[in-house]
Amino acid sequence: MTSAESAGTTIPSAATPAADVVEELRAWVGSDRPAEFPYALVLGHLRSVGKHFLDAGLLRLLDEIRGRLSEAEKPDGPSFLHRFLDVVLDKYDDRYDYPSYTALSLLSRPAAADWREALRARDEAVLLLLADLIRFEGLSATDTPDAPLYMPPSPELVAKRARLAVRVMEPAALRALPPGVVDAAAVAVVPGRTPGGPLAAEILRTAGPHQALVLSASVQPVYVLHDEYLFLRTLQSFETTFTFMSSALATAVRRLDGDRPREAADLVGAVADILKESLPLFSLLATMRAEAFQTFREFTEGASAIQSAGYKTFESLCSTPSRARLASFAYTSVPQVHACVTNGRATVQDTWHGLIAAHRLKPADDAALRAAADRLESVHQRWKQTHYRLAVRMIGERSGTGYTQGVPYLAAVLDNRLFPAPDRHSALVG
Ligand code: HEM
Repeated sequence: MTSAESAGTTIPSAATPAADVVEELRAWVGSDRPAEFPYALVLGHLRSVGKHFLDAGLLRLLDEIRGRLSEAEKPDGPSFLHRFLDVVLDKYDDRYDYPSYTALSLLSRPAAADWREALRARDEAVLLLLADLIRFEGLSATDTPDAPLYMPPSPELVAKRARLAVRVMEPAALRALPPGVVDAAAVAVVPGRTPGGPLAAEILRTAGPHQALVLSASVQPVYVLHDEYLFLRTLQSFETTFTFMSSALATAVRRLDGDRPREAADLVGAVADILKESLPLFSLLATMRAEAFQTFREFTEGASAIQSAGYKTFESLCSTPSRARLASFAYTSVPQVHACVTNGRATVQDTWHGLIAAHRLKPADDAALRAAADRLESVHQRWKQTHYRLAVRMIGERSGTGYTQGVPYLAAVLDNRLFPAPDRHSALVG
């Protein structure tokens, strides 16, 4: 009996037995073909048993392979294979957390030179992630479904997921894809009607081999239930969105510092627009079956989006978090962001108020900033409320996987504001 079976969870049989994967890996080690690592074999096996249940012998061999890579490490950072193995081996290494669960190191791209490039990178990434999700969901109704295989959705649920994914994809596709792939006029009349299958196929058709590898390598579910794929892709889509938001807000701070408040207001407005566009991701995730989630989250303990550096970066670029929030799990879970804040990260609110205090801001520019900040505040409140309701539905009174009480924590953060009123801000920051 495996440890999982003794815990009451059935472990389905592997697509390729672990012993065969080990044998093929040993053959690869002995070959002189370093570029031909058998990703598909390892991933196929991993997804058929779940990362939590990888065979000990296979894990040791993968660790050994990684060790050899380290010896030959290049100065420009770990290779893709090294980062891939770090994600596969996170539980084995006892380093498992939210960034490794969501394979963020495999999805990250070099920092964009400017915010428009960051928006393009976000659009392209979200389109790929959701196109791949539509592909995966669609396969479940065919003779060759893709792993993870258990608890497949009904055809109606597959169609609903495609429709909801399309709602997030359309605006990104109109910006990032060649004209005509999505019918702009039709979207303007009734959004969300673009057929998902053909749109996804077109996006995936134009993906290069590296993008295809990144897409495949970045789905490493902990268990074998179909819906975990949806969970991972939704988290990753939000993460790429937070990366853009952080980049645009950092630019807004620089524009304010350079006495260009209108440009800063436009950037804050753009951040609000993209967050608003992303809200249907929660509707998409709400189609996850709570029963499936409650089963696989047994193996995600220790990984929670409270560890999202992207989210806390965008939040702490708006204004400096209160001392209480900095001292709470919200920021102790993201030590690198915590350090940036305590080292005096410049924020939109502080820089903006600095301009007012120095009499360097015209009333009309102040009003433009106020309007954009209010818009972002209101979309973010909607984000938090939707997240809260989703959590109530999915976990009820269970505690969070990020070591908070769960829903009560999320209820408490509803009161926080990105741009707190000055009196409230000083009361909290001290
Ligand atoms: C089934 C869906 C979800 C549930 C049940 C859920 C539940 C929770 C819970 C209980 C927490 C508190 C921390 C903990 O102990 O884990 C939390 C925090 C958080 N979640 Fe989710 N979540 C879900 C989906 C998402 C998604 C899709 C995102 C997008 C990235 C997300 C982003 C966050 C963030 C940023 C925090 C930290 C909030 C803060 O510290 O103010 N969550 N979530």
